[in-house]
Amino acid sequence: MSPTFSPNLVLVVTTSVLLTLISLSSGRIKFAPHNVNAYINEDTTTCPDFACPKVLCDLKRKNVQNFCENVQCVGIEVENCTENNAAGAGRTMYEEKLTMCGCCPGCVKYKGVGEECEQYPPPPSPDPECTDQFCKVLMNTCAPGLICPLVGHNEKKCSYKSTLTGGFSELTSCHDKRALAFSNDLYWTPRCEEDESYSPKQCKGSYSGGICFCVSKEGRRIFGTEYQRQAQNQTCACSRQVHELRESGHIASFHCTPDGNYEPLQCDTESGLCYCVEPKTGKMTGAVLPENEWKNLPCFSLNLTNFNPELGYYRVCESEWAPAQKLSLEASLHGLKVLSGRRLNCDFDGSYAPVQNMDQLTKCVNKDGTLIGAYRDSEDKHDTDCQCVRDEIKSWQEGIPFMKRCADITGNYDVISPIDQTAPQHWRCVDRDGIFFGEDIVEDQYKCCLYGNLPTYPPRNCDKEPINVKQKCYDPTMSDEWNKDKIRPCYFWAT
Ligand SMILES: *[C@@H]1O[C@H](CO)[C@@H](O)[C@H](O)[C@H]1NC(C)=O
Ligand SMILES: *[C@@H]1O[C@H](CO)[C@@H](O)[C@H](O)[C@H]1NC(C)=O
Ligand SMILES: *[C@@H]1O[C@H](CO)[C@@H](O)[C@H](O)[C@H]1NC(C)=O
Repeated sequence: MSPTFSPNLVLVVTTSVLLTLISLSSGRIKFAPHNVNAYINEDTTTCPDFACPKVLCDLKRKNVQNFCENVQCVGIEVENCTENNAAGAGRTMYEEKLTMCGCCPGCVKYKGVGEECEQYPPPPSPDPECTDQFCKVLMNTCAPGLICPLVGHNEKKCSYKSTLTGGFSELTSCHDKRALAFSNDLYWTPRCEEDESYSPKQCKGSYSGGICFCVSKEGRRIFGTEYQRQAQNQTCACSRQVHELRESGHIASFHCTPDGNYEPLQCDTESGLCYCVEPKTGKMTGAVLPENEWKNLPCFSLNLTNFNPELGYYRVCESEWAPAQKLSLEASLHGLKVLSGRRLNCDFDGSYAPVQNMDQLTKCVNKDGTLIGAYRDSEDKHDTDCQCVRDEIKSWQEGIPFMKRCADITGNYDVISPIDQTAPQHWRCVDRDGIFFGEDIVEDQYKCCLYGNLPTYPPRNCDKEPINVKQKCYDPTMSDEWNKDKIRPCYFWAT
C-alpha cells in the first residue's frame, strides 16, 4: 500500500499548468467565452470529446495521476443548469464530468424526445450563443437513455428505447432514469457513471431542504446520508466499498461515517494494523500502528462514530456481529455450518441497521439496537425500511422540527404528508426517501402512483406493482372505460 508517485513532482507540474491557465483566464481556470475555441484541444483521440484545453490535455496524455485534482472548477452547481426549453424539447442538464477534459461539471444541452437527431453526430461544440461567464456545451446527441431511431422514411428522432421494441420494457439503468427525468416524468435527476451505472452519491430535493445519499451501482439505497446543504465533501466511497465487499461475501472491517465517507481511522482486524486515511477517498495518509497502539495514531479521536471505549475498534453492533461472522466464515471454509443465534444486521458505521428481524418479525431499532416504538412489518408486506422513524429521531436529536408523517405499521414514510404542519390543508405525495413531489393535493382525494425503483415505460397496472400506491391512477395506453374515475397518468410518479 505504499504510494507510487512523488507528491512533490506532481505539485511542480501542476503549478506551472495553473500559472499558464491563470494567465489565460484572469485568475481562475474557467471558460472564457470569447476565446474558448482558441484553446480547445483538436486531437480528440486521446482526450475526451468535449471542451479540453490543450495544456490540460497534454497533461492528461502524459498520464499524470489524478490530474483533475489540481484543476479548479468554476463552481457550476445543479441550479445553474435549470434553464428549461419548450415542453418536450431538449433542455439543459447538469453533468458532473463534462468540461475541462472531464474534470469539471458543466451544463449540457441535450435533445429531447421527438427532436430530430443524428446517429453519428458531429463532435459537441460550445454554444455559439454563449454570453455567460461560462459556456454551455451544445451536444448534438439525444439525452442519455434516449436513442435515435429512424421514424418514418428518413426522419430520425430521439425516442425512448421501449418504443423500438413496441412492448413494455423495464427502465432500470441510470441513463434510462435520466431520460425519464429529462421529459419531466421523473421529478429528480439521477447521476450516472460512464458505464451507465448509478454514481455512488445521489441527491434529491432542494439544496436547502433535500438530502444526498449513497446507492449501489444498481441504484439501490445503501448506508450513508447527509443534508444536501452540508454534502459538499460527501463521496459515498466508503459505503460503496463496504457494500460491494459484503455482496461478494467478504467481511469488511472498514468504518464509514454517517454520510458514507471513510472514518479517518481504520483498522484491518485480519492483520492487526490500524492506520489513518483521507475520509473522501480512503487513501492511506502514512501513519500505521499495531492495533493495540491505535490510540496513538494522529487521526485518533474520541469522536469516532458510535465509539465505545470498552469495545475498542469494534462498534456496538459489530462487537456482536463480526466475531460470529468470522467464525462462521472460517467454519464454512472447513465445510462446517455454524448456527448463529441471531441474524444481526449492522450498518457500515458499526451501529445497528434500522431494520432488524427479531422473533420472526421485522422491527425498527435505534442505532444502539433498542426498539423504536411499536413499529414492525405487517404480515403481508416485506418492504419495511424504517427510514421515516429513523429520520424523525435524527431530527429531534438535532433540534429540527420533523414535518412528515410516518406510516403506522412499517415506520416508512407515509405516501402523503402535509407540506407544513401548521397549514394542514396542503398535502403532497412523499417518496420513500421522504422527498415531496408532484402538485398540492387534498387529503382523501389524492392519487399517488409511485413506481418504486422499477419503472416501466410506458407504465401499466400501477395499482398492482408499486407498494406505495393507495389508489388507482389511469393507464394512458388503456381504454376510457378502464380509466374511469382515475385522474393521473401513472408514469408521472416514477421515483
Ligand atoms: C450558479 O448559481 C449560483 C446561485 O444561483 C450563482 O451565485 C453563481 O454565480 C452561478 N455560477 C455561475 C458560474 O454562473
Ligand atoms: C469540506 O471540506 C473542506 C476542506 O476540508 C472544509 O473546509 C469544509 O468545511 C468541509 N465542508 C463540510 C460541509 O464539512
Ligand atoms: C469532538 O466532539 C465534540 C462535541 O461533539 C467537539 O466539541 C470536539 O471539538 C470534537 N473533537 C474533535 C477532535 O473533533
